[in-house]
Amino acid sequence: MKNILITGGAGFIGSHAVRHFVKKYPDYNIINLDKLTYAGNLSNLRDVENSSNYFFIREDICNYDAVKKIFSGETLLSNKSFKNICLPVDGVINLAAETHVDRSIKDPFVFARTNVLGTLTLLQCAKETWQGNYEGHLFYQISTDEVYGALELEGGFFTETTRYDPHSPYSASKASADHFVRAFHDTYGLPVVITNCSNNYGPYQFPEKLIPLFINNIRHNKPLPVYGTGQNVRDWLYVEDHARAMDIVFHKGVPGSTYNIGGFNEWKNIDLIKVVIKTVDRILGRQEGASLKLITYVKDRAGHDLRYAIDSTKLEKGLGWRPSLQFEEGIEKTVKWYLENQEWMDNVTSGEYERYYENMYGNR
Ligand code: NAD
Ligand code: TYD
Repeated sequence: MKNILITGGAGFIGSHAVRHFVKKYPDYNIINLDKLTYAGNLSNLRDVENSSNYFFIREDICNYDAVKKIFSGETLLSNKSFKNICLPVDGVINLAAETHVDRSIKDPFVFARTNVLGTLTLLQCAKETWQGNYEGHLFYQISTDEVYGALELEGGFFTETTRYDPHSPYSASKASADHFVRAFHDTYGLPVVITNCSNNYGPYQFPEKLIPLFINNIRHNKPLPVYGTGQNVRDWLYVEDHARAMDIVFHKGVPGSTYNIGGFNEWKNIDLIKVVIKTVDRILGRQEGASLKLITYVKDRAGHDLRYAIDSTKLEKGLGWRPSLQFEEGIEKTVKWYLENQEWMDNVTSGEYERYYENMYGNR
């Protein structure tokens, strides 16, 4: 495969995936298709944006006509600023999505549109472009552990055979997308793989999600809103380990298969929050525990899933992937990154980057 379409490449995980593939595979053309919603930020990709094997197209994955032209290569061929000619898309890694559970509770429609109809649009374009000649092609859907529902505190792990049981509008939309992906495999023979990953953390995550939000709030001595009792459990994976897993699954995954991705790294929210507080306080030279007073218990999230925990044995034994970072190391790197990149954080929280890209690309 030469021409790889990565959707949602300006977002948190997508930018790490794009960076990984652009740097590791100079002979591939990496096409980043992103609508640049509030969560998309091209400054996440500054270090690769001038690479000769990197192409950015601002587009909505729901726009069938535009996506079709991207698949055929027409869009790139007609754009003189793209030096390398890039003919049909050979492989797709679909990360574009609305991703925040709290937003999905407030406005589920955009989740159904992007996550379900957008994925369906990509599937249809892949099918029509490849026309049954599936050799050397792959549609890789990036999914989440949240589609499996919730576990009891002592309730084992999600495996690849756990029944889908989504509870939030976000997870329902992702589950629905995954069903379409499987349906295209079973009905049309489209070569697909799906991975269900646990919570990611690391640089470039939009600060509406727990870890970057709390790092920023601690820095500015703002309250830390802990939902409910703080006893909910999440399973955390450093984002670059997810990008490496994607590389392995993209190249070695068996079409028609699902793989779970996770680092066997469960944390109760309140315990994780205390680790983040301790790390930020230490790096900022504050007295140990000084920011614990910022913890503020607030009303619980509606339908808040109690526990997620991923069993990734299939990926580890079958394809040889292992997480490379211990959590202590990952959280240290992450806290340092946010504290050292205050300008990135300020731009994101002030909406500065949105205005910048509006000027460049027009209104969203
Ligand atoms: P994110 O919200 O940081 O980024 C999403 C990206 O998709 C943004 O760049 C946005 O502009 C783009 N996008 C949104 N709607 C679009 C549309 N209609 N057309 C084109 N682009 C659009 O998300 P993330 O946290 O990086 O998650 C990426 C993927 O990984 C998602 O599919 C998510 O479900 C999945 N996932 C995330 C996690 C996690 O912990 N963040 C865990 C498992 C799986
Ligand atoms: P989040 O980062 O939104 O990821 P997800 O809901 O997809 O797992 O939240 C992680 C956990 O932290 C989740 O149990 C909700 C909780 N949480 C808070 O307690 N306070 C907050 O302000 C946020 C954003 C999340």
